[in-house]
Amino acid sequence: MQRQALRWRRAGRRVVFVPTMGALHEGHLSLMRRARTLAGPRGMVVASVFVNPLQFNNARDLSVYPRPLAHDRRLCRDAGVDVFFAPAAGSMRAADAGTWVEEMTVSRSMEGVVRPGHFRGVTTVVLQLFNLVQPSIAIFGAKDFQQAAIIQRMVRDLSIPVRIVVAPTIREADGLAMSSRNVHLTPVQRGQATALWQAMGEARVALRGGVCVAGRKLDALRRRLVRRMESHPDVRVEYVEFFDEHTLEPVRQIQRGARTRMAVAAWVGQTRLIDNARL
Ligand code: PAF
Repeated sequence: MQRQALRWRRAGRRVVFVPTMGALHEGHLSLMRRARTLAGPRGMVVASVFVNPLQFNNARDLSVYPRPLAHDRRLCRDAGVDVFFAPAAGSMRAADAGTWVEEMTVSRSMEGVVRPGHFRGVTTVVLQLFNLVQPSIAIFGAKDFQQAAIIQRMVRDLSIPVRIVVAPTIREADGLAMSSRNVHLTPVQRGQATALWQAMGEARVALRGGVCVAGRKLDALRRRLVRRMESHPDVRVEYVEFFDEHTLEPVRQIQRGARTRMAVAAWVGQTRLIDNARL
């Protein structure tokens, strides 16, 4: 992969990269179509599928992660991907590898708290993938908002010559954010999983309707969203956070004109879902 990518680079061909862990859905495909547009007719679109063990802090989650490789390959081809890069599980990291890449500011909150080690697994593999694929542009989905922010920091802090594009979350008709983990939901849980999106919508309505006014603490709103989501029997909320979308610092009070975002993580049965939206 790297030899080929360096050849393209020398020939002045732009490489646009979409890294994934497979089990592709419409959300991923929207990133690939965006990549195709950004690459132009002479550029190359590379999509990788690698279920990165370094970023799983739960052995069950890693073992049940869906891996429909042949199907993924077909979807990539149809979305205009030129190279489908699927390194074998053991081929990415030497058994005695001891080098990690760790972002230590924007990764301190939310997923960084409840999934210790997750983000350093992500940044380590993403930098390695960048070194293999040599992209000039890489595209990430806004559903993993904190991940995208961390990768942007990594690229800035380490002067990595790649432009990061963050593309919008793609949702099912009822608002559920598309995720490879949604396949684990039973039909009943699938119905309850819309609670995340509904709760965030309710927060915006509360704000617009003046229930929450500038200066008021966001704690009451957080409690209300947790109650709303947990009124579904299979939903257990892990966190609801309000944060500044540039710094990812927590926001405790409603501020007029501020770029506050909210992020939610919740278990629906045995499946952990995350979502986020502008407040
Ligand atoms: O978002 C993902 O699918 C993964 O975290 C990524 C960026 C492909 C790294 O393994």
